[in-house]
Amino acid sequence: MIILGIETSCDETGVGIIELDAAGNMTILADVVASSMEQHARFGGVVPEIASRAHLESLQPVMQEALAKANVTVPDAVAATVGPGLAGALLVGASAAKAYAAAWDVPFYGVNHLGGHVAVANLEGETLPHSVALLVSGGHTQLLEVQAVGKPMKELGATLDDAAGEAYDKVARLLGLGYPGGPVIDKLAKTGDKAAINFPRGLSKAEDLRGKHRHDFSFSGLKTAVARYVEQAERDGRVISIPDVCASFQEAVCDVLSAKAIRACQDTGAKVLLLGGGVAANSRLRELCQRRCTSAGIELRVPRFSLCTDNGVMIAAVTAQLIHEGAGPSSLSVGTDSSLEVEIPQLING
Ligand code: KG4
Ligand code: ZN
Repeated sequence: MIILGIETSCDETGVGIIELDAAGNMTILADVVASSMEQHARFGGVVPEIASRAHLESLQPVMQEALAKANVTVPDAVAATVGPGLAGALLVGASAAKAYAAAWDVPFYGVNHLGGHVAVANLEGETLPHSVALLVSGGHTQLLEVQAVGKPMKELGATLDDAAGEAYDKVARLLGLGYPGGPVIDKLAKTGDKAAINFPRGLSKAEDLRGKHRHDFSFSGLKTAVARYVEQAERDGRVISIPDVCASFQEAVCDVLSAKAIRACQDTGAKVLLLGGGVAANSRLRELCQRRCTSAGIELRVPRFSLCTDNGVMIAAVTAQLIHEGAGPSSLSVGTDSSLEVEIPQLING
């Protein structure tokens, strides 16, 4: 069975095609992604209107390229992200997927973007067992308890304000380093001293860990602390070390992300920690997660980078899993939901 997935929840237009066999094995036939990132660079973050327009322009060429690469004329099912994500951006992909499904007379599946991030784990190596997923990108920061791919997930925690990638992008903007901020801060941090400045670790005090925000994140205080540090240095006429600021900021982010991820594994008894989202590329995050997982007896899984960032294959993968378990298609009248909950893997009725 050939499944085509369309992803347009943020700034990546992705089309992925997967072959699902009777045993549930998945093979990637095509993975084509066009990004509008460069168009957002001068604004320092994703501009929803620009993203929607870019999806509209890219979708047909990306679709044609994916079908040609997979050597497929008509797939057996078409899926699209119906949430969570940017409202206008979601509409472009979901509407296109429904139109293709109707024109080709094949079933349509409206699926959850976050379920897609988790589903890519089953494309490489062993099937994902009971685990905790740390999903960190420019748009989301979540700790999810996963029983199995395609099953409803439980949100253990999320950010109360900025997403982790958003914090990187805002701090990079503040330091005049351009967009996206993650890769450049990661690089500069390697030459800086991570102990130079003791930036705050959000929601990590003993009382936070005892309360309802045990598994939640907050990065806006950290961003403000970096801004204050830079302003104070300017007032004092001091020259700051950009690598030291980058390394100290990165340490604060990655210390909190990895500590909370391990704690979530321990609280739930999960033996696997899965990383996903663009920030999973971060060298310090991987290093800290690996070190802390090893000492806690937890297996760390990080899919290859092209599967960590937004793509169409992840949408095809979660759909393949749903179909394999007997799920029926969605109605063509289902809408999109920009704040779709993780407990809902698929929207079935409109
Ligand atoms: O998953 P993604 O490509 O798109 C969405 O946001 O959905 O993630 C992009 C985010 C950006 O905020 C970018 O700054 C961040 O991931 N990022 C990184 C790194 N590479 C990308 N953050 C930290 N370290 C990196 N090496
Ligand atoms: Zn994503």
